[in-house]
Amino acid sequence: MVVVAILAAGRGTRMKSNLPKVLHSLGGRSLIERVIDSVKPLSPTQQMVIVGYQAQEVKAATQSIPNLEFVEQSVQLGTGHAIQQLLPHLEGYTGDLLVLYGDVPLLRTETLKNLLQTHAQHQNAATILTACLDNPKGYGRVFCNSDNIVQQIIEDRDCTPTQKQNNRINAGIYCFRWPDLAKVLPDLQANNSQKEYYLTDAVSSLEPVMAVDLEDEQEILGINDRLQLATAYEILQKRVKEKWMIAGVTLIDPASITIDDTVEIAPDVIIEPQTHLRGNTVIQTGSRIGPGSLIENSQIGENVTVLYSVVINSNVQAKTCVGPYSHLRGQVEVGTGCRVGNFVELKNTKLGDRTNVAHLSYLGDTTTGSKVNIGAGTITANYDGVKKHPTNIGDRTKTGSNSVLVAPLTLGNDVYIAAGSTVIEDVPDDCLVIARARQVVKPGWRNKSTES
Ligand code: UD1
Ligand code: CA
Repeated sequence: MVVVAILAAGRGTRMKSNLPKVLHSLGGRSLIERVIDSVKPLSPTQQMVIVGYQAQEVKAATQSIPNLEFVEQSVQLGTGHAIQQLLPHLEGYTGDLLVLYGDVPLLRTETLKNLLQTHAQHQNAATILTACLDNPKGYGRVFCNSDNIVQQIIEDRDCTPTQKQNNRINAGIYCFRWPDLAKVLPDLQANNSQKEYYLTDAVSSLEPVMAVDLEDEQEILGINDRLQLATAYEILQKRVKEKWMIAGVTLIDPASITIDDTVEIAPDVIIEPQTHLRGNTVIQTGSRIGPGSLIENSQIGENVTVLYSVVINSNVQAKTCVGPYSHLRGQVEVGTGCRVGNFVELKNTKLGDRTNVAHLSYLGDTTTGSKVNIGAGTITANYDGVKKHPTNIGDRTKTGSNSVLVAPLTLGNDVYIAAGSTVIEDVPDDCLVIARARQVVKPGWRNKSTES
């Protein structure tokens, strides 16, 4: 049984931001969301977020996450003081407490599982995550006897020069047997250089306390400023891209590609340079995305190509070609074997199978049947200045170049629209529509007197 506590009361001054630090986004999810995600597979019985600075903002932003409780630490007197705030909430609790930081977003669930396992196996009073760093500056140093049994943790600023030589650091991630910790928490003293109540001081009063070394030091990177935020993003990107390449996805020039860790990609997909895949995007096998494309929260079927285009909140089915220079947004659904081409914008539009919108068009709030051909420069006039109106286009219908379809409008099956028409009335099946001024040709028009 494990309760998770996430420390998130600190100010995060170095971010130089109005946004609380733990709400800053890292690859599409906030730092604190990432921490919460990492503990989800551990099925914690409770998750307590310790909030202080901008508590209301942190609460509001994480409200939709299930099973979060907020504990307020109104003044921040140190990590020990933060955990002391849990005492009234965990009275009588006899399980373990896993302590995490809201600003350490790269921890792997595997690492936490390993920590909990060691904790249980050795029946430790506390088990702490440690690492041996080339540059341990700034971290608390962990002093162990043999067998990784921890005697003491001393903060960097409280270390003697000799103690500073110890490069085994405290990652700040711990598992405590709660009843043992609860007993010593009230006795913490603030007699250190920062006059803070250190959680690390509790360790000296507990027995046994064991250190577990991290395999990948990158996991404990804490975010204190925008530089570290960018470093964390790089680490995350590397993890994500390696995972997909190993799974059979080709990335051409990986350094120029970004992929959110929420994206799903089938084997034999090719991602070309300068392409960005975000949110809940899914890409099926055989598709080729990019160069120069952005796909966000969209489903891309098998053997689709997307070239220099933006696809947001949309669904593109198999064997369809999108681009170059298309923009699909607002719940677009494109059927199989379609062509959505050069300089085309689709908004809230559904295209039936084998339909082409190949050049210079805008279709908004439109539904087409199959085998429709939307001629170059066809525009739906879907907005009357107040409301949006729908356009329906039947199977096999063809619009001429530079047609304007004024919505609300229904065109039947097998309708032909003459080029340059402005269509304002519904058209039944199997008709030709010509809705433009008749051509007038006036001979002898040139003004001869102005000629030299
Ligand atoms: C802490 C550890 C140090 C460890 C380091 C790892 C202590 C005394 N020291 O130091 O051994 O090497 O983490 O990063 O614990 N927080 C609160 N309330 C407070 C104080 C802090 O919620 O009153 C939160 C902060 O928002 C932050 C986290 O706790 O997320 C760590 O606090 P910080 O003061 O940065 O501790 P460090 O000095 O880094
Ligand atoms: Ca810190």
